[in-house]
Amino acid sequence: MTFRIEPLAPEDWARWRQVRVRALGEDPDAFACSAHVLGAQAPERQWREAISTRRVLLAVDEHGRDVAMVGVVGDPDPELISMWVAPEARHSGLGRRLVDAVVGEAGDRDVTLRVMAQNAPAIAFYRGCGFELETRTPDAEGTLTMRRVAPSATTTWPAPAGRPRRSGGPPPGRSADQ
Ligand SMILES: CC(C)(COP(=O)(O)OP(=O)(O)OC[C@H]1O[C@@H](n2cnc3c(N)ncnc32)[C@H](O)[C@@H]1OP(=O)(O)O)[C@@H](O)C(=O)NCCC(=O)NCCS
Repeated sequence: MTFRIEPLAPEDWARWRQVRVRALGEDPDAFACSAHVLGAQAPERQWREAISTRRVLLAVDEHGRDVAMVGVVGDPDPELISMWVAPEARHSGLGRRLVDAVVGEAGDRDVTLRVMAQNAPAIAFYRGCGFELETRTPDAEGTLTMRRVAPSATTTWPAPAGRPRRSGGPPPGRSADQ
């Protein structure tokens, strides 16, 4: 299977609605109560407003079907939301590609997300994408927070002997990815 990832424009709200309603219907327990407010019963006005307050990426399969979604809210601190891959498209690396797209757009900023505390598969998935649990006690909606620290913020490079250590990035001429 091949997939293409598309950022949605506000006028694409109906495509997003279709995927989101399917996600909430098929995996209701994966989403916090507050997410269900924007579901099948929500009026068009609410969908249009909601899509204008976030960035939404959809994945489209080779037959043109929308099979996965992810959203991002928060500026300057990006929060990944609404992650869902249709069952027929799972375990092919698509979820990882969507997370990587969000992380790539975040650049040198950390990315956070909330995940239902009992959703062990999703927690394992996010760990594989570089996120770590930041909270251990579920909040009022039953979610835990995970964070992916931006690489440039975590790297501490050994300084040459006799010179102080510097943090926050690689020495001149080296990439943070090395
Ligand atoms: C969690 C979810 C997004 C993963 O999507 P996916 O496209 O299947 O994930 P990928 O194929 O990119 O998986 C990448 C890696 O994540 C890990 N992973 C994925 N699904 C996993 C699962 N169910 N259990 C444990 N690890 C998992 C694996 O390491 C996997 O690598 P592998 O396929 O080589 O084993 C998808 O299962 C889903 O939509 N679940 C229901 C909704 C949900 O829980 N959303 C999260 C809301 S916070």
